[in-house]
Amino acid sequence: MDIFLIDGPVRLSGSVTINGSKNASLPIMASAILAGGKSILRGVPDLSDITVCGQLLEQLGCKVVKEPTGELSIDSTVVDNPFGDYEILRKMRAGICILGPLLARCGRAEVSMPGGCAIGDRPVNLHINGLRQLGARIHLKSGYIIAEAPNGLTGKEIFMGGPFGSTVLGTANVLAAATLARGRTVIESAACEPEIVDLANCLNKMGAKISGIGSPRLTIDGVSGLEPVEYEVIADRIEAGTFMVAAAITAGELKLTNCRLRHMMAVADRLRHIGVKVEQDNGGCVVSATGPPRTADITTQPYPGFPTDLQAQFMALLSLADGNSVIIEKVFPDRFMHVAELNRMAANLRKEGPAVIVAGVKKLIAAPVMASDLRASAALVLAAMAAEGTTIINRVYHIDRGYEKIEQRLNPLGASISRQSV
Ligand code: EPU
Repeated sequence: MDIFLIDGPVRLSGSVTINGSKNASLPIMASAILAGGKSILRGVPDLSDITVCGQLLEQLGCKVVKEPTGELSIDSTVVDNPFGDYEILRKMRAGICILGPLLARCGRAEVSMPGGCAIGDRPVNLHINGLRQLGARIHLKSGYIIAEAPNGLTGKEIFMGGPFGSTVLGTANVLAAATLARGRTVIESAACEPEIVDLANCLNKMGAKISGIGSPRLTIDGVSGLEPVEYEVIADRIEAGTFMVAAAITAGELKLTNCRLRHMMAVADRLRHIGVKVEQDNGGCVVSATGPPRTADITTQPYPGFPTDLQAQFMALLSLADGNSVIIEKVFPDRFMHVAELNRMAANLRKEGPAVIVAGVKKLIAAPVMASDLRASAALVLAAMAAEGTTIINRVYHIDRGYEKIEQRLNPLGASISRQSV
């Protein structure tokens, strides 16, 4: 198992290119199932979640190859084993996004219910309800979702909102399935995240008829078949946001290329509010800070609100602010595993239900800490770069799930991170 040793404090400066989006790539990879033939995806990041998703597709019968050019090819000519194994789904919850495509392509799917995870309960009731409304017969057996639609799916008006708003992967599943359903499907309260926009654009390039893309009301006119596609995924707005916080927390200056600021308006708004400069720079942006941040209140929400996937990183940043901030988590109310670890580094955080009161401290101090999930571990790396001393982060495999060789990208900018196998 790898650990990170991170020396701080450091000041970052330089230029970094943002990779393709993990959370756009995963449902797009799954949607390759819908078309028999070889699809080529560009910009898919080199991450363990992507490798696991490739393994899942191979179990179904697809051939998945990382080409020497960096492209990912998925040949879905054969999909003869519509089975999503628990052994894979327990590692990567996003594997659930094969459910809709498999059902549409094969008329049947047997996919493990994903397990719980460190960020809280992750139910899939909205995925199941949506697919049922398209006519699928679905029951649960021994931890597996057994879905059947031997005579195909039929379009319908579906409301997909839940107690915490829209669902990203639920929308992806129903949207993908509806492309091949008979007639028209309307998804009301669809997720509007850029990753869903990217999926819908990719599906349209495959021959689907989706309109209302980017709005909470998606209209899908079913077609009889889809074609393989060549497609480039969008830049990763969460990776970009993490590098922005890296510039801010180290009072540094970073130029981000391949970063779409228009996907990050809530993030830029909060950064500017706390005194960080964020300037558009053709195809990217420049982020700079000169001192400790001012306080800010943040509430996570579905897009275009502030993303839950940057909540932990902003908590690390605001822990150094001059006063009190309040962070409210409205997407995953239990996503606070990083609170205790940041407190180990001398932050002053108090959890109150789905909120955390962040009392700013003058400095963070290095300590041994434990990464608990992907974004929480990113927050620890950020805190460690600002903290005095050498922080040891255990279980860095969590960070490898979503950030490609993070130490190799931060070190040239001035960080001092070494990876060791223990
Ligand atoms: N929810 C339900 N029922 C469902 C599905 C979701 O009640 O059937 C609830 C969830 O419990 C949560 C809320 O709805 O309270 C939103 O969850 P959502 O379904 O949107 O999450 P997801 O699709 O499983 C994706 C990202 C997450 C990101 C969330 C929210 C991928 C692979 N995962 O998850 O990303 O936090 O959307 O934006 O796209 C990450 O990258 O670190 C990560 C966890």
